[in-house]
Amino acid sequence: MISIPNFTFTSVSNSQKLSPKPEQKNEVIRLSQVWAGYDAHEPILEAINLTVYELDFLGLIGPNGGGKTTLIKVLLGLLKPLKGDVKIMGRSVPQGRRYLGYAPQILEFDRNFPVRVNEVVRMGRLGKRSLFQPYTKKDEEIVIQALEKVEMLDLRNRPIGELSGGQRQRVYIARALASEPQILLLDEPTASVDPKMCSSIYELLLKLNEYMTIVMITHDINTMSSYVKTVGCLNRRLHYHGEQHITPKMLEQTYSNTGDI
Ligand SMILES: Nc1ncnc2c1ncn2[C@@H]1O[C@H](COP(=O)(O)OP(=O)(O)OP(=O)(O)O)[C@@H](O)[C@H]1O
Ligand SMILES: [Mg+2]
Repeated sequence: MISIPNFTFTSVSNSQKLSPKPEQKNEVIRLSQVWAGYDAHEPILEAINLTVYELDFLGLIGPNGGGKTTLIKVLLGLLKPLKGDVKIMGRSVPQGRRYLGYAPQILEFDRNFPVRVNEVVRMGRLGKRSLFQPYTKKDEEIVIQALEKVEMLDLRNRPIGELSGGQRQRVYIARALASEPQILLLDEPTASVDPKMCSSIYELLLKLNEYMTIVMITHDINTMSSYVKTVGCLNRRLHYHGEQHITPKMLEQTYSNTGDI
């Protein structure tokens, strides 16, 4: 049986109408014929071709287990593709991943980590320093700026486990921002977040998108459509041709059991 999420087809939003043609912009991510998986005999991602342009805001949807987080792992260099080529800012993954900021899919066990908000955000600076070098004044300033951007400065001394889901999402976005990325990768930033917090996270992302490229994975198909500039559907294979909104055909192909896109 085909299970398609509830989705209302709406007109194209303002942000979509205003987005310049991708052809005029620089490529920041390019995947060419990428195959990836945890077992060489059972690829999770097949023949992925994806080009993301500077200042794009790409929303990526797809069923559970469709390979969305796996795609992010490939970009971050945590999973080596079985085949194909990945370029970030025109560089190989080891060279290019420094341009990426990553806010992970939130997991309940994060609550047990005995760390405070500002310590989590400070971790975003790790890639900018050599291992045993202490944090500098500049690091601290950037951490404060990142916390201000996500409106979490007041809670900076709170243990992460005492925060709500939406507040933790903001902290992870701040940690990604602290690495001063050019491209922000977000894995379900609005999961388990109430509608008000959800819109405030999207408003924050819109502001960040003024100077940062964003790739966001989400299951929140209805709301994201009014914020993102382009949408892609991933279920083992990727359906993405720079579409500005989801079509019924894309949904049906992505959420069908076969995953043949
Ligand atoms: N470390 C791993 N080792 C082996 N298999 C894995 C591993 N991580 C994920 N998988 C498998 O890869 C497939 C894709 O997982 P992935 O996490 O990329 O899906 P997803 O699209 O992000 O799903 P969700 O929407 O539930 O987050 C799943 O079948 C999953 O079980
Ligand atoms: Mg996932």
